[in-house]
Amino acid sequence: MTKVLVATDKPFAKVAVDGIRKIVEDAGFELVLLEKYTSQADFIKAVADVDAVIIRSDIADKEIIEAGKNLKIIVRAGAGYDNIDLAAATAKGVVAMNTPGQNSNAVAELALGMTVMAARSNYDGSSGTELRGKKLGIHAYGNVGKYVAMIAKGFGMDIYAFDPFIAKEEIEKDGIKCINNVEELYTTCQYVSLHIPANDKTKKSINYDLLSKMPKNACLINTARKEVINEEDLLKIFAERPDFKYVSDIEPGNKADFEANFKGRYFFTPKKMGAQTSEANVNAGLAAANQIVKFIKTGDKTYQVNK
Ligand code: 3PG
Repeated sequence: MTKVLVATDKPFAKVAVDGIRKIVEDAGFELVLLEKYTSQADFIKAVADVDAVIIRSDIADKEIIEAGKNLKIIVRAGAGYDNIDLAAATAKGVVAMNTPGQNSNAVAELALGMTVMAARSNYDGSSGTELRGKKLGIHAYGNVGKYVAMIAKGFGMDIYAFDPFIAKEEIEKDGIKCINNVEELYTTCQYVSLHIPANDKTKKSINYDLLSKMPKNACLINTARKEVINEEDLLKIFAERPDFKYVSDIEPGNKADFEANFKGRYFFTPKKMGAQTSEANVNAGLAAANQIVKFIKTGDKTYQVNK
């Protein structure tokens, strides 16, 4: 019988797991659940005899992929697939997919939620500022960036976006000002919200050069990946500019330095929380299960990312 493993260190909401189970079992497949596992060894053991895997931010490296003797497909229930070794998957003939757009609203709501938190001084009782009329720069106008723009409009923010892969007209039709180079986005906007993927080109790309261009009372909002930030440069900016704030959906590698020196100017979620809503879990989890069933039954490879 075809086996589908759900391997989630950070489990889906129960309603999502129930939905995934129904899709998998209605297709005549078996669901195997591995939640909150404590070591990669548990994942390696679980993947040994399954045909398909659903993961979130779980690491699907070469070892995992090679351990899956019958593995045919791995689906990242979410957007970013930097946690999958695509070359290893391709070499073994394993199809890798993501589920684009399914958890974007959840991530965007957190981005704006953390923005409000920063503007209100982390709710510490002191006087904060409002978002109305402030300039927001959206760095990458994909699925999450679009939702961020939509929500930020409700706050009355003045919205700009930079995305070299999206046509100016597509950005402008949403009533967003399109910016042609990344430096200008950072020079223009007091708030910058990051929505770039983590890859060889973007890792550590948010550096001193860019951040030092941001106007007074700057705030960087990161619901993308910590890897895209040059964390040493960010610390340097923090030391130089007491007006600079950083809110991030995941702790930076140098969290201890922030805690020791910059209390009140940052907020970090303890675990990646952007997509951690029942709605996003259902959307992404069910999409992943449906994509697996379709692929196994019909060979459909829509959303394949290792081509
Ligand atoms: C994504 O890339 O989809 C988000 O970062 C969500 O990650 P998560 O599924 O681990 O919450």
